[in-house]
Amino acid sequence: MRSRSAALIAGAALVLATLAAIAIGSGGMRHFDPALTGYALGSLMAAFAVGYRFTVWAQRPPSRMYFKRGLQLLFRRAGKSAPTEKPAPIPVPHGAGTLGFALARNFVAQEFIRRRGLVRWMMHLCLSGGCTLAFAITFPLVFGWIHFEPLGGDAEMYRVVALGVNVDSFSVHSVKAFVMFNLLNISAVLVLIGLVMAAWRRLTDAGERATQTFTEDIVPLLLIFAVTATGLALTVSYKFLAGRGHGLWAIVHMVAVVSLLLYIPFSKLFHMFQRTCSLCVSRYKKVGATGPRAHCIRCGEDFASQMHVDDLKTVLDELGFNYRFSGAQGEVHYQDVCPACRRGLLALNQGRTIGR
Ligand code: HEM
Repeated sequence: MRSRSAALIAGAALVLATLAAIAIGSGGMRHFDPALTGYALGSLMAAFAVGYRFTVWAQRPPSRMYFKRGLQLLFRRAGKSAPTEKPAPIPVPHGAGTLGFALARNFVAQEFIRRRGLVRWMMHLCLSGGCTLAFAITFPLVFGWIHFEPLGGDAEMYRVVALGVNVDSFSVHSVKAFVMFNLLNISAVLVLIGLVMAAWRRLTDAGERATQTFTEDIVPLLLIFAVTATGLALTVSYKFLAGRGHGLWAIVHMVAVVSLLLYIPFSKLFHMFQRTCSLCVSRYKKVGATGPRAHCIRCGEDFASQMHVDDLKTVLDELGFNYRFSGAQGEVHYQDVCPACRRGLLALNQGRTIGR
């Protein structure tokens, strides 16, 4: 119940923050385009859903532990030596370098997916890069943070105004103008390449075909395709069809975009927000690798950081799993046994049960 109220408050706070950002960023709504109200309303609803869902997820025992430790360890220096029973590292502000590195690895280079395969990595880079580019262009435009206006009396020159500040100007015949006015089309092509690669993988990879579900794995691709295809239909309409059908496609694109925005928080696409936790995990692993170590109570092997083992016990308790049992050394916890011994114990106990 407490977690539900916290989530409702977080969702409402995010809506208010977005509303304030629109009001201030658009110069008191002076540069807000009323034709884009539908997109703005969709964005506000999505902001609520993201705030709500993220708070619910972040309060679950495992993610809460990672976020708590991530914040604590941000300013803790990871030791340099090999893992031994050495004194705990000295706490000094030292997390920024590692945080920047983890950001670059996880969000820009997407190292986690490159390890799973080169083609899969390229597919993900096209999808995430194309969508990020499209989002980075459209949200500021929809919220009225950026607008273009003719420079002086010259209709051939344009000025870019961001948050009320003139940031650039260009001729409508320049390469810059061509790139600027086609950035959304470029992002759409990138997304389409990613979609084709993703669809191919889902059709041909035996492992994926066996485990994928329509709602979890196919619907996100269909929704992204709907947004991309309807966006490109707008371009085709005004570039090649003298604007025929533009009004209809504008509505269909808006419906597709709002559906995607509302779908993100409740689907696997939410991983784009959940990956923030991986920054905490990177820090956790780095500090844990050089801090006090846990040794298996059965074979004495160093198998994990003591912090990790202690935290696992806490999380399991919070989830209601009791893995404590009495051993020769008194009460012990299953987490104090290394994975290899756990497998060995399983076989031994099975053997004992069947009388061998
Ligand atoms: C996968 C992500 C997206 C892709 C690939 C995409 C693609 C496109 C394309 C190709 C166009 C036509 C470009 C042009 O007019 O030159 C377009 C138009 C537009 N998009 Fe999207 N889009 C995406 C997401 C979004 C989002 C998230 C929003 C808003 C929050 C949005 C709002 C708009 C608006 C307002 C227009 C202009 C509509 C009009 O002319 O009536 N798009 N989009």
